[in-house]
Formats: sequence, C-alpha cells, structure tokens
Amino acid sequence: MKGIILAGGTGSRLRPLTQITNKHLIPVYDRPMISYPLQTLIKGGITEILIVSGREHAGHFIEFLGSGKDHGVKLTYRVQDEAGGIAQALLLAEDFADRRPVTVILGDNIFEDNFKRAVSSFRKGARVFLKKVPDPQRFGVPELKGRTITKIIEKPDKPPTQYAVTGLYQYDAEVFRIIRKLKPSARGELEITDVNNAYVRRGKLQAEFVRGFWSDAGTFDSLARTTQWAIKRK
Ligand code: DAU
Repeated sequence: MKGIILAGGTGSRLRPLTQITNKHLIPVYDRPMISYPLQTLIKGGITEILIVSGREHAGHFIEFLGSGKDHGVKLTYRVQDEAGGIAQALLLAEDFADRRPVTVILGDNIFEDNFKRAVSSFRKGARVFLKKVPDPQRFGVPELKGRTITKIIEKPDKPPTQYAVTGLYQYDAEVFRIIRKLKPSARGELEITDVNNAYVRRGKLQAEFVRGFWSDAGTFDSLARTTQWAIKRK
C-alpha cells in the first residue's frame, strides 16, 4: 500500500513561524513536525510515500528529506498551489495512487499508535480513526450508533459525541471520483469530511479507535501540548 502525507495549506495559525519555513517543518521538540507522520507511515509498513506540500518554502522539504533514502523509503513530491482544502490536496495524488488503496495522513497529525494491522488489513471503502478528546468542536466529529458512524460534522458548535475524526484515513480508488464531484464548503475548501460522508451514504465507512497519544500540532497550544508529549516520551 502507498502512503500520502498532506502538508499543504498556509499555516496561518502558526504565523510568524510560517513566514520563515513551512508549517510542517517547525520543530516538535527535537525534529521537524513532518517526521512524526512520516514515521507513522513507515512503522505501518509503507515505503512508497507522496508528500503534497504547499507552495511556500516547498524546497525545504526536499532539503530535509531528499529521496527518502535516509529513512529507507521512496519519496515523491507534489505542490498544491493554493490551500483549496484537504480533499483538493488529496486529488493531486490520483496518478501516484494508480487505482490502488491508499493510507493518507495529515502533516500536522502526531500519533503514538501503530497502524501496521490497519495498513495490512485494508481492502476497500474507506476507514477513519477516532479519538476521544476534550475539545471535539475543533475537529470533524462523528455521530455514532454503537460503533457505526451515521454522519460526520465538521467543527460543530454542539458536538454529538466526544470523538474527533483524526487526520489518518484509508481510501479505495473511488475517493478520486468522489472528490471531483465535491463543491467547496462555506470556508471555500474541498472538505475531507464531505468525502467521508459520501462513504457513509454508501455504507462503506469503517471506524477504528486510536490508542495512546494523538494531537494535531497546527495551533500554538496544540503544538506546545504535543511538544510536552514528545519530551516525556524520550
Ligand atoms: O486534525 C484532524 C482534523 O483535520 C479533522 O478532525 C478535520 O475533520 C479536518 O478538516 C482537519 O481540520 P483542520 O481545520 O485542523 O485542518 P487544517 O486546515 O489545519 O489542515 C490540516 C492539514 O491538512 C495541514 O497541516 C496540511 C493539510 N492541508 C490542509 C489544507 C487546508 C493540505 O494539504 N491542503 C490544504 O489546502
């Protein structure tokens, strides 16, 4: 299975740091942010990885990671010119995916869990990974009936559950057809939550629960929390 790291977007919530380099290269304790999602894919057994970056400071990724040789993986790069949303960034991976299932991770998502079993067991449909959080209104939030997701709501004022849909996803090749039919949301983006809801409507969205630490590192507060975790883990 191939892997995709989505590291586009403008990183506006981490200005002024993102005026100097790309959001995903900002340090989380002793290494650049993107090292964590990269390790998550590698530990899952994935060795062919596409990095979709934003245009700003895109060259810094190649300076840091090069061909992937140092990590024993093969890296490919694509640039998302404008921050048109997570689903728009994913569409850039269509050729790379080559009609096969993919594991996708957001470049600011930091997981302690290991996804080896998830990677080897995935065949078709889509799969999301849920984590109980104290502040679900910051995320995509699932409505659940038992363990089945009946709907995902993006950043709800009144979250129906305490779970966040984390930034790790698995899709079959149908995903690209779904993205091409999407309309931009109120914030002008092609939303990954709309993609996942399309799979819910088809009865093809599976859900798993994440063990251990999970955070995004996309705001100063969450970056600080994530750094604290990285220090303790050492
Ligand atoms: O962290 C998990 C959350 O990520 C999910 O719960 C939400 O459903 C999902 O929409 C997303 O929410 P955020 O508001 O946190 O997404 P953000 O705009 O911060 O983007 C997260 C990463 O996605 C970013 O670090 C890089 C990638 N991205 C984002 C955009 C907007 C792209 O590659 N291209 C983009 O255009």
